[in-house]
Amino acid sequence: MDRLIEKIVDDLNTSVVGREIKYYSVLESTNERAKQLAKEGYNEGTVVIADEQTGGKGRLGRRWFSPPGSGLWLSIILYPELEADRVPLMTIIASLAVYDVIESLGLITEIKWPNDILIKGHKVCGILSEMSVGSTGINYVITGIGLNVNQTYFPEEIREFATSLRIELGKELNRAYLLQIILEAFERYYFMLTRGKIDLLINLWKERMKIINKRIQIKNGQEIASGIVIDISNGGELILRDDTGNIHLYWAGDTSLVK
Ligand code: BTN
Repeated sequence: MDRLIEKIVDDLNTSVVGREIKYYSVLESTNERAKQLAKEGYNEGTVVIADEQTGGKGRLGRRWFSPPGSGLWLSIILYPELEADRVPLMTIIASLAVYDVIESLGLITEIKWPNDILIKGHKVCGILSEMSVGSTGINYVITGIGLNVNQTYFPEEIREFATSLRIELGKELNRAYLLQIILEAFERYYFMLTRGKIDLLINLWKERMKIINKRIQIKNGQEIASGIVIDISNGGELILRDDTGNIHLYWAGDTSLVK
């Protein structure tokens, strides 16, 4: 894959994202490596990618299954001029980029709030943004993307919920090419953000979700609630109306549809 990566750098049609790509055959976590590089002052848009992660990180302290030779495990270093509470927008951008790429392959996909990408109800991609904030604002944001590309095997605990592009398409895909088109799409959305088109981004994200007006259960830490999703706010929060008519806003949580 390293030779392929060199080739995509030549072909890549971006001005910031992926202008430098740091490829590793094994890392514990690309997000962790990207944080170190950000602290060393690496340029905005630098991409860290590993063929395998031994300690890939998921949301809520979970592990992300990242075997060698099969997926795209990458992190993008960014220095956006954003208020810290707007950092979820980086995850939204990544989910829009991956959504577009999957759709361009001819697959029907959806974004599951807040940041899972599903195909026929099975998770194909997860996104984890992490940031460092100092007294003057954001020091850096790392947006990590884990896309299941060519796996045909998943461990038992996730088998029921996970899928890969290869399983859905019935053929193997070129990971370097996918990386190229993800980075190009990511940059297009990132520039929308830096030009202040936040409402547009939120609307695009909402349109790609099938959760509005649906009855769901949401688990957020110890709290479990259920009700109807009435909207997604301009800040990206899920707005839930419970059965007594009370309105709740959530930043994060695990949602499931209730029949
Ligand atoms: C989730 O739980 O849905 C988020 C998963 C994010 C996984 C990616 S893989 C590349 C990057 N490096 C990590 O350690 N995690 C993210």
